[in-house]
Amino acid sequence: MKDDTTLGGQAHQDTVHDSAIKHVTGRADYTDDLAEPYGLLHAYLGLSQCAHGTITGMDFTETLAAPGVIGVLTAQDIPGVNDVSPNGKNDDPIFAEKKVLFWGQPVFAVIAETRDQARRAAHKARISYDILPHALDPIAARDAGMGYVTDPLTLRRGDADAGMAAAPRRIKGRFAIGGQDHFYLEGQIAMAIPGEDEDVTVNVSTQHPSEVQHMVAHVLGCRSNAVVVNVRRMGGGFGGKETQMNLFACVAAIAAKRWNRAVKIRPDRDDDMTATGKRHDFVVDYEVGFDDDGTIRAVRGDWYARCGFSADLSGPVTDRALFHCDNAYYYPDVRVSSHPMRTNTVSNTAFRGFGGPQGVIVAERMIEEIAYALGRDPLEIRKRNLYRNGQLTPYHQEVTDQILPRIFEELEASSDYHARRQAVLDWNAKGGVIRKGIALTPVKFGISFTATWFNQAGALIHVYNDGSIALNHGGTEMGQGLNTKVAQVVAEAFQCDIGNIKITRTTTEKVPNTSATAASSGTDLNGMAALDAAEQIKARLVEFVAERWQQPREDVHFVPGHVRAGDHLIPFRDVIAAAYRARIHLSAAGFYKTPQIHWDRATGRGRPFYYYAYGAAVSEVSVDTLTGEYVIDRSDVLHDVGRSLNPAIDRGQIEGAFVQGAGWLTIEELWWDDKGRLRTHAPSTYKVPLASDRPRVFNVRLADWSENSERSIKRSKAVGEPPFMLGISVFEAINMAVASFGDYREPARLDAPATPERVLMAIERLRHGSGRG
Ligand code: MTE
Ligand code: MOS
Repeated sequence: MKDDTTLGGQAHQDTVHDSAIKHVTGRADYTDDLAEPYGLLHAYLGLSQCAHGTITGMDFTETLAAPGVIGVLTAQDIPGVNDVSPNGKNDDPIFAEKKVLFWGQPVFAVIAETRDQARRAAHKARISYDILPHALDPIAARDAGMGYVTDPLTLRRGDADAGMAAAPRRIKGRFAIGGQDHFYLEGQIAMAIPGEDEDVTVNVSTQHPSEVQHMVAHVLGCRSNAVVVNVRRMGGGFGGKETQMNLFACVAAIAAKRWNRAVKIRPDRDDDMTATGKRHDFVVDYEVGFDDDGTIRAVRGDWYARCGFSADLSGPVTDRALFHCDNAYYYPDVRVSSHPMRTNTVSNTAFRGFGGPQGVIVAERMIEEIAYALGRDPLEIRKRNLYRNGQLTPYHQEVTDQILPRIFEELEASSDYHARRQAVLDWNAKGGVIRKGIALTPVKFGISFTATWFNQAGALIHVYNDGSIALNHGGTEMGQGLNTKVAQVVAEAFQCDIGNIKITRTTTEKVPNTSATAASSGTDLNGMAALDAAEQIKARLVEFVAERWQQPREDVHFVPGHVRAGDHLIPFRDVIAAAYRARIHLSAAGFYKTPQIHWDRATGRGRPFYYYAYGAAVSEVSVDTLTGEYVIDRSDVLHDVGRSLNPAIDRGQIEGAFVQGAGWLTIEELWWDDKGRLRTHAPSTYKVPLASDRPRVFNVRLADWSENSERSIKRSKAVGEPPFMLGISVFEAINMAVASFGDYREPARLDAPATPERVLMAIERLRHGSGRG
């Protein structure tokens, strides 16, 4: 170990992602890269071919006769319960039993010697249905009386009706907001290996190993202690592997136990996109009352969500849409309600922001409505309505850490916002084919799981007697750099180089009862748990060193590569070797739970969030008004991650989230036909942003003066989801370019995504003066 003080990979350093080189050289092991056990079988799902119907027959004659086929699994073959619902509602069957509830619902699985054989044989099955009427979108579902998949929520503070009636001005509108496919590069995959007795081990690409463990036990009808779930890393999750992986893991496990052979399941991209849940699309009816100077007086709104056929995570997702319906603005009188509609579509799920973006964007729409009605720059209206510390959110949490005024000020200056907005107005006044728009939008995002009990984490650290350290925690790595950040925390605690720490796969055998790696809280929770484990081992070492080297405890310190005890400087390695011989326990389990948070859903009051993460972006776009196509000319981002644990990784998260957010609102469009069949189920029909779609000039900066006012891990803040919502600046800029056709007398009111087709149609409407877009 080095004697000097230049340790690599300490907290707050630009440490390289521990797998960066492996990612780009192809040496990173994903689930599909694991050595395959001898005799591995493959499973393939058979999906329903109608959106709603009663199953009248299943004929597997040709399937079973196909080459390589070992057998077929249907609902009858499930030893335990036919359910992978993550919320105990028992509404998420693995295989449809009597009815199918959406087009693409799994009905059976074929098990064969090769994946190709299983896939071909699956297409030979004949399933017959009596077709029933279906409803696809949330308003159609409401009108058809489909009801809710889970309990709705209303948040209220003050008297929204009285506030609205008293407001000098009022605007009402409806806003349709599209969903989004996760488009993780690595699709859903699981490989189950049977063991003795009831045992089974599942290697799977999931954000939630503990839930997979409990689900596999539930469907096999065994105890959780018979099931081991391992995750080395995912090739992206984005929320799409928080619950959606349960089904794949369970099918593999059931087949593995049934035939006592290892079984792998990996759907192709089309089936993955058809059969797994996505971001919820919403239709929102909003009404805002305001003063002549643009101050918001009252807000009322109804958020109708396309939840799909089952609840899955729709409860907390639609709750979070309401939690963020204020974005960064104070609403004196407010009443907002969620309507988690049951629809005959795939069950929608978590996706980066978890419903938050669908709340935030409505707040921004209302700001635009006010600005255009008053003929003002929307930025002025934004600033006028920003929360001041001491004000209450619609869920009665006091805002105490507001830093947006400073972020706005710095970003306005660094992006030269005001001069550029004037230039855009001047440019558009010339009336050319290319129109421009510019917008500055903020985000304020609440950090914590709103289900308070999820805010806990565990870690396990072993120091081996050669001084090397194995670090395990309950979080999962999906590219976001969680393992690197947690290792930095531990490296700093022991004052060792990060190279001395082995980050091992996540496994339910080492840390039990973990929460999903989600809600951006992976580092906050697991970093704290790992630090707790490290501190326990350090405390034992301090005591040992003090005694062995005869120094007071206060004079024992961890310094780079060493432990200093008074005048003695002992290499860390030697300390560990001596401690081992002295029979000091060199292993510890750490634990953390977020303090101070509480939330009472029944009353709509509490402090669901430990703190807020803030940020803002300015985007400028050019729109070709003959085709509706656009480019993002420039985006400037100033984002708050508190005291960054790793500025390089945080900037990467911000860039990725921004582009993903812009993709959601521009080119990513989900489209179902009348029969309820998703027709955008491959990259040929579903367009995600390419490198060429990113802002031509992209300046991403951290608000490096910010420090978390709460006792978070090293005063940092969560980063994974909040910057997703900065993509809204692109959407608002496009709106401005379109609104130039109506001389900015009214906002463009584009629905999302603002695809080139939709932009072109909105321009045409305004060009021909036929009113609202
Ligand atoms: N970054 C990458 N590269 N891949 C991902 O799948 N998921 C996002 C975000 N950043 C994701 C990502 C989502 S939805 C969340 S909730 C967080 O990472 C989860 O990780 P964290 O809690 O460690 O930030
Ligand atoms: Mo992220 S949507 O919380 O997995």
